[in-house]
Amino acid sequence: MISYNEQTKVFQLDSKSASYVIGIFEGGYILHYYYGAKIPTGEDFSNMYYRGPQASFIPYNVEVRRAGYPCFYPGNAPMEYPTNGAGDFRNSALSILNEDGNTVTDIRYESHKIYAGKPRIEGLPSLYADETSAETLELIALDPYTRARVTLYYTVFKNLDAIVRSVKIENAGDKTFKVDAAASLCLDLPSMDYQWIHLWGQHCQERALSMTKLEHGTQMIGSKRGASGHFHNPFAALATNGTDEQNGEVYAVNLVYSGNFTISAEVDAGCTTRLMAGINDHDFLWEVKPGAAFQTPECVLVYSANGLGEMSRTFHRLYLDHLIPAQWAYTKRPLLINSWEAAYFDFDTDKLIAFAERAKDIGIDMLVMDDGWFGHRDDDYDSLGDWYIYESKLDLKRLTDTVHEMGLKFGIWYEPEMISPDSDLFRAHPDWHIHVPGRPATEGRQQYVIDFSRQDVRDNIFEQMSSVLDNYDIDYVKWDFNRNITEAGSALLDAEHGLEFFHRYMLGLYEFLEKFTKKYPHLLLESCSGGGGRFDAGWLAYSPQVWTSDNTYPIDRCRIQYGTSLCYPASSMGAHVSHKDAICDYNMRGCVAMAGTFGYEMDPRTFTEEEKALVKQQVVNYHKYYDTIHYGDLYRLISPYDGHADRAVWSFVSRDKSKALLTAATFQRTFNQSFWIRMQGLDPEKTYFCAELNLTASGARLMNVGLNFFNQLGWIGTAREFWFEEVK
Ligand code: DGJ
Repeated sequence: MISYNEQTKVFQLDSKSASYVIGIFEGGYILHYYYGAKIPTGEDFSNMYYRGPQASFIPYNVEVRRAGYPCFYPGNAPMEYPTNGAGDFRNSALSILNEDGNTVTDIRYESHKIYAGKPRIEGLPSLYADETSAETLELIALDPYTRARVTLYYTVFKNLDAIVRSVKIENAGDKTFKVDAAASLCLDLPSMDYQWIHLWGQHCQERALSMTKLEHGTQMIGSKRGASGHFHNPFAALATNGTDEQNGEVYAVNLVYSGNFTISAEVDAGCTTRLMAGINDHDFLWEVKPGAAFQTPECVLVYSANGLGEMSRTFHRLYLDHLIPAQWAYTKRPLLINSWEAAYFDFDTDKLIAFAERAKDIGIDMLVMDDGWFGHRDDDYDSLGDWYIYESKLDLKRLTDTVHEMGLKFGIWYEPEMISPDSDLFRAHPDWHIHVPGRPATEGRQQYVIDFSRQDVRDNIFEQMSSVLDNYDIDYVKWDFNRNITEAGSALLDAEHGLEFFHRYMLGLYEFLEKFTKKYPHLLLESCSGGGGRFDAGWLAYSPQVWTSDNTYPIDRCRIQYGTSLCYPASSMGAHVSHKDAICDYNMRGCVAMAGTFGYEMDPRTFTEEEKALVKQQVVNYHKYYDTIHYGDLYRLISPYDGHADRAVWSFVSRDKSKALLTAATFQRTFNQSFWIRMQGLDPEKTYFCAELNLTASGARLMNVGLNFFNQLGWIGTAREFWFEEVK
């Protein structure tokens, strides 16, 4: 997978069908030569550094020039990890503030290591891989002036076109310095002919797809909210013009981090592109004392030569096999019913028992009690931080015992990182919320974020949670986060370290999650942030599923889940059937929720006999389709984002290609319209039978001729599923 040619000083990292090539150039400059479809090793890369304009405004390195390279300019060469202020005016991956007060940084190759497997990162979420599935290159470089020793990590996967990258910056000198910017990844590409793809959004409209032409200058997405956020997901891709689901080259990045981030694509005068991803350097300055080190989060880099479809399938497989906690990745998740949209804060023990009875009747596996069970919480004005049972409202022992006696599992809601001004915890510790003394603290949903950078705060919340989780039979925790961080500062950080706060908060959160998941490995953790405000790969390292959006309206959900599926697998997307409305029928709600971790978000006592029968059928389908959806491959066939689209069509194909579930959903009246779908991912040689269409056909026919639908789907707001099984 990873080779090094001593003579040419070229590293080649080969994955399933891609190659990534790095060269050590004159003077120790580390250059990026190539990333794309697989090439043989040993090719000649000696001229790859010629890129961009050459004039007196492009500075050069005198020694390198004297050594016989008059056309090498750090400012237009493809740099593997570009630094600040030493000849490259493009965006810098690394900038170090030294004791003299300048940020000039310049690293050169020192040594390297190649080994089987993948290291885990201490204190941060990271992917895992054994020695047979991955190899790692550590490229070590030194800035002789600051004595910053920089290790660039690259883990290449044998069967997936993915590389996991991260960077460690150690202080090998005797003077303290501060890391001013440190990207997890930089990729210099030789062209600007790309589409810039990212997922933007807001509450109830998360991860909307945006594809625009890349232009000169910097295009950037990011967050400075103390969370990855609803507004930009830490995912972006560059795709050659004309890329669609099946065609085109794609370079995609996804940060394994849940805090402030940026992902940028800069096009320079030479019409080359620099893609970069990492912690947001706004409000960031990290002190590194002699002997200490700073470690960036990991970033996943995926290459696809076959469009966005293959890119997504690579991410999905990678996350199932190497990121999502191994005990959950291939474990069947319980089909749940959640109390939130059914009751909001208005519940008591008997009401929840009645939910459980009805839920059991229709085949549901788990009851989740959402917000409102603690302190004296009957609305969203108080009690966050008081994680003890609201006893006059709830008898948790009777509830959990009864639910378990019925054979159901039981889940509970927490918002551990929050504190209400009206809470016992706030009254006891008025300085535990994130704030700047002397300034009024901004509220969101009548609450503050609690200072998770502090050990004493984390210990208190951990103990409070443990006193419930250790004493009651609980199978699942929904971990919510309903506002972002303002007035960032911690009472424990002095002025010198104030700008470390945001990242220290994340380190505190990850330390908590590490300890929590170790102590409660049997607990299924579902992350949530006012819907999908923290849907990121950092969280997936601890919680195998994430609540995708508070918007469960199925037409919107088709778009939200479509965008989310670009990077994240179906098994990670919390998706529930909620109250019916005038437009979308139950079928559509069921079919759309079925493309995620299926569940219900409604009062089961209100089901009519007809609805009960429908739900029972959905439960049967859920079990029948589970493995194909959760472990199979996704093919997006008609996009809800297409200009003329009034529908979305997708399919899941089992890994052995013996089964496929095709789902078609319509959004508008389509009088006398027909539409044509060519399936993808089937085995052309296999014969399939679809009972819903009463059709027997070869995979070749289904993928080439396709299927023509006419009036099959009825009117607005409905959906249908078509199940294909191999005929032996
Ligand atoms: C926001 C979540 O997204 C909802 O599902 C629900 O848990 C509420 N918070 C509860 O306050």
